[in-house]
Amino acid sequence: MLPASPLPADPPSPAPAPPAAIVVQGLHFAYPSCEDVLAGVDLRIPQGRKVALLGASGAGKSTLLLHLNGIHLARKGQVLVEGKPVRKETLREVRARVGLVFQDPDDQLFHLTVEEDVAFGPRNFGLSEAEVRRRVHEALERTHLNGFEHRVNQHLSYGERRRVSIATVLSMRPGILALDEPFANLDPVMVKALIAYLRRFEGTVILASQDILPALGCCDSVAILHQGKVAAYGDAKEIATDRDLLRRAELDFWYLREILDGLES
Ligand SMILES: Nc1ncnc2c1ncn2[C@@H]1O[C@H](COP(=O)(O)OP(=O)(O)OP(=O)(O)O)[C@@H](O)[C@H]1O
Ligand SMILES: [Mg+2]
Repeated sequence: MLPASPLPADPPSPAPAPPAAIVVQGLHFAYPSCEDVLAGVDLRIPQGRKVALLGASGAGKSTLLLHLNGIHLARKGQVLVEGKPVRKETLREVRARVGLVFQDPDDQLFHLTVEEDVAFGPRNFGLSEAEVRRRVHEALERTHLNGFEHRVNQHLSYGERRRVSIATVLSMRPGILALDEPFANLDPVMVKALIAYLRRFEGTVILASQDILPALGCCDSVAILHQGKVAAYGDAKEIATDRDLLRRAELDFWYLREILDGLES
């Protein structure tokens, strides 16, 4: 009898692709006094991608970001964070993954001192006091706030409060950073440092900003929000050089080059 020929080995099954960091599907949202702010937003952000969310003032950027950690909950459509729908029941998990820096630092800071606010998130995770201290130190270092530990938040300048609000999120080491106007009121040295930090950051970034050049300095993709929808999404270079598209979305920032050229000539 012939020996049974060995069965062919099963082809190696491809490893399942990790779920996207963020998926927004058909998201609609209206405020009581402002209809159709989001009118069918679709956006898929793979893990590790860095996306600049651009749009004219009032386009709905902040409203969209507020859906990513469940401050607003989808009424029509859905938002998934690493495959999990953002719902009341998943809020704790979602907020551990998505760190949101609010547009207004005063919405983020509610303790007396800088240290208390930056320590709040890690302490809330139940980390040891030594780990909380380590995280506070690291977050303050990254936002150039060493020595500010015992300063009173209310007495800080707006730009300083912005840096504290960023530090409160960095201390939680989220895998997904959602930043709303993180460059506003920062001085050029801090803008440069934040760009460098975000470029090195190994997680996913979605960053809403009217400071288009710094946003382009740290994001590889751009999504344009216009009339309640994502009007364009793709490679940062392609979108940022499409002047017609930028004009239609009221985002043409190229006049800045004329200013710089004028200074050099
Ligand atoms: N709490 C609210 N109640 C009513 N309307 C609101 C509220 N918050 C925002 N809006 C309106 O919703 C629209 C979208 O606002 P949103 O703050 O999301 O825009 P944005 O793109 O972040 O603008 P900006 O670039 O100025 O920060 C605006 O027309 C705004 O007036
Ligand atoms: Mg906004």
